[in-house]
Amino acid sequence: MAPILEINDLKKLARRRVPKMFFDYADSGSWTESTYRANEADFAKIKLRQRVLVDMTNRSLESTMIGEKVSMPVALAPTGLTGMQHADGEMLAARAAEKFGVPFTLSTMSICSIEDVASVTTKPFWFQLYVMRDKDFVLNLIQRAKAAKCSALVLTLDLQILGQRHKDLRNGLSAPPRFTPKHIWQMATRPGWCLGMLGTQRRTFRNIVGHAKSVTDLSSLSAWTSEQFDPQLSWADVEWIKKQWGGKLILKGILDREDAEMAVQTGADAIIVSNHGGRQLDGADSSISKLEEIADAVGDRIEVHFDGGIRSGQDVLKALCLGAKGTFIGRPFLYGLGAMGEPGVTTALEIIRKELDTTMALCGKRDIRLASKDWLARRPG
Ligand code: FNR
Repeated sequence: MAPILEINDLKKLARRRVPKMFFDYADSGSWTESTYRANEADFAKIKLRQRVLVDMTNRSLESTMIGEKVSMPVALAPTGLTGMQHADGEMLAARAAEKFGVPFTLSTMSICSIEDVASVTTKPFWFQLYVMRDKDFVLNLIQRAKAAKCSALVLTLDLQILGQRHKDLRNGLSAPPRFTPKHIWQMATRPGWCLGMLGTQRRTFRNIVGHAKSVTDLSSLSAWTSEQFDPQLSWADVEWIKKQWGGKLILKGILDREDAEMAVQTGADAIIVSNHGGRQLDGADSSISKLEEIADAVGDRIEVHFDGGIRSGQDVLKALCLGAKGTFIGRPFLYGLGAMGEPGVTTALEIIRKELDTTMALCGKRDIRLASKDWLARRPG
């Protein structure tokens, strides 16, 4: 096997090991994918300041995100269908994150349930909520997240309707997956993936199946999901969720200064500057190009987190310098998971930690908590 040195090596391996329709589901953006591409490409426009002959011993990547200690300020982002990249994917990723000392965020649209993840972890994880039209279902999820002792609710605001992803439509990907001869061939050529999947059927979409009123089995799930995202979602709903939850709240999917201001007014604990990894509004600005403006606008009033396009520790450092207190990675950990399961997620985190640590040192700095614009030579705009 070729050495695994960077996130792209995990991506190549995942492409070989995960059936095409599920690999493509991760590796896709909406419509022309211009925002998806810009998320990664715009990091190259930011340049770090090289410093020399500075004492580089005793470096620390430790920090906090919403008051929780983290071994480095990088959390795993909520991603739907993670259990299709690898059997029991959410449970494996949560375990890898816990051992590494970084937060794991479980998506509403997961294969494994809140309870499944709670059964394999000992520390609290974060739960991501989509506000569906069925408010009883939403309340049920909140109660289950509380019962599982989740320490933060990540409320996603940028998916009131779904951005179209051509690859998913061309691949015939649906929830629940319906298998055509083409799909069966794709899976037959990935025997390792298939073998892993054999024992996991009982965990399929258990956040939803059996909990939403009209969803009793997998075949009723698809119709329910397609009509449940709420185009009328409003700031009043955010207030309502905040009240029902009563714990730490992170608002995900802010890409505009005015929306950031509204988010501050809700009294949430943090926002995530994010465009859903380029999967929603194609043609929107890259996430990293909006971070500085939003972080400057909100100042110290709310913690600012960031995601979108991070593929290295250098990218993490740039986001921290532009005002993020913490960052999230989506695809980098999914590629690790698809490539090698739990050790693959650990490898993705290790790659990023090593890059972040060495890059900070070459900038002549020792404490990640002090990252600031002063560490940069050039920034966008
Ligand atoms: C996502 N994302 C996402 N976000 C969310 O709030 N709930 C979800 O269920 C999902 N599902 C999902 C699936 C897949 C396959 C991807 C790639 C992404 C968005 C995710 O949380 C995050 O914003 C992006 O992944 C960040 O961009 P990168 O790190 O993937 O470039």
